[in-house]
Amino acid sequence: MKITMIGTGYVGLVSGACFSEMGSSVTCVDVDDKKIEALKLGILPIYEPGLEAMVQQNHKEGLLHFSTSLEEAMKLSNLYFIAVGTPPGEDGSADLKYVLKVASEIGKNLETYAVIVDKSTVPVGTADKVRDAVQKELDLRGVDIDFDVVSNPEFLKEGAALADFMKPDRIIVGADTEKARKLMQRVYAPFSRNRDKLLFMSVRDAEMTKYTANSMLATKISFMNEIAAICERLGVDVENVRKGIGSDSRIGYSFIYPGCGYGGSCFPKDIKALIRTSVDCGLEPGVLNAVEERNTEQKRILPEKIGSRLGKDLSGFCFGVWGLAFKPGTDDMREASSIVLIESLVQAGAVVKAYDPVAMEEAKKVFPREMFDQGSLVLTDQPYDALDRADAMVLVTEWKTFRQPDFEMMKEIMRSPLIFDGRNQYDPQMVKEAGFEYFGIGR
Ligand SMILES: NC(=O)c1ccc[n+]([C@@H]2O[C@H](COP(=O)([O-])OP(=O)(O)OC[C@H]3O[C@@H](n4cnc5c(N)ncnc54)[C@H](O)[C@@H]3O)[C@@H](O)[C@H]2O)c1
Repeated sequence: MKITMIGTGYVGLVSGACFSEMGSSVTCVDVDDKKIEALKLGILPIYEPGLEAMVQQNHKEGLLHFSTSLEEAMKLSNLYFIAVGTPPGEDGSADLKYVLKVASEIGKNLETYAVIVDKSTVPVGTADKVRDAVQKELDLRGVDIDFDVVSNPEFLKEGAALADFMKPDRIIVGADTEKARKLMQRVYAPFSRNRDKLLFMSVRDAEMTKYTANSMLATKISFMNEIAAICERLGVDVENVRKGIGSDSRIGYSFIYPGCGYGGSCFPKDIKALIRTSVDCGLEPGVLNAVEERNTEQKRILPEKIGSRLGKDLSGFCFGVWGLAFKPGTDDMREASSIVLIESLVQAGAVVKAYDPVAMEEAKKVFPREMFDQGSLVLTDQPYDALDRADAMVLVTEWKTFRQPDFEMMKEIMRSPLIFDGRNQYDPQMVKEAGFEYFGIGR
């Protein structure tokens, strides 16, 4: 099959690479010419395990192409996936300007029947807006060309994106015509071999499904973080509570880890967007508001714990931070808890030395230049360099490499034996026996 993937970010690049891996001929289009030029040379803009090899191999085999020209790419196929960003607007709603710009471009260049697929996460009703934007251009051109708009939200997880795309739990397809359904069935057939993964529904149902999935997961996290706060007041270890409830098959173990807040490019913005959608249709979303508020509070929990133990003025203190990415397995730092923590420590006068296995380059773009120039933030090449002469170690991202630290070495190189564990990675008893003071979440 021939596919045009518009937007070559996280979703577009992973989807394009995976479709090509299954034999389809894919052209990934992006307005960012530097990104496209780099991709042609096999240089990836993001870190995702396994992606580089897949992109390079399929590019070499002539199945995966990169272009800045949507007009040219459209000539090669009649299946156009829109995978551009939908960042939060000022009122929290999903900003559709990139999606609708692409829709207009498609309308300007459409020559024959095509299926336009919204893969970006977009609010209910967006497919209608995409249809209108395309139709407007066709009307301006005075041409009558049939097309369908389909909703096919993406559920991949950063850090496990290839596995999620290649072996999905389900493939949601919102389509209103049989012709579009058939084409979607064909393109996803290789991913649906051992059982039928496709779940067909209306376009609006599919749009809502994506927001509901992310909101449900974020709700589990925020709920557990609230339970952690109650546990802390009561002298209860939330980790035992977590294991106790996770073993109930109705609840399950996933997404109930207490921690220093969720981040990333999806949960924060998608919760905000669903809150906006709800308010716009006259419903105050009490649960979603609480999920969002708890998460904002949760991102402040590490600075607060540090402040309670060491005081509000942190001048002269040095902190070793382990983990910058919003979660392990990615270099994505969008809305990462590490940003709130580091900005707050630096504002209180501290020096921060930080290490992340893959997000160091990203960190250089995220934090203001002055922080580096003034020496308030130092990125180190090795994890233990970040702890050298540190007054405390703060764990923010639960990379596997941080799971079994060398406490002996830490005691030798750190100025004081303090651990703030933002992801409850360590057994408090073990840490205390190693001679450290331990602060976790809800324990
Ligand atoms: N990142 C994830 O894990 C994930 C998972 C599921 C769904 N989503 C959703 O997928 C969508 C894309 O997310 P992302 O993380 O891949 O975004 P991203 O910011 O990484 O990538 C978006 C890309 O679109 C490009 N772009 C913008 N306008 C364009 C245009 N007119 N033509 C061509 N390219 C254009 C940008 O240059 C950028 O490379 C969002 O709606 C997001 O919510 C993301």
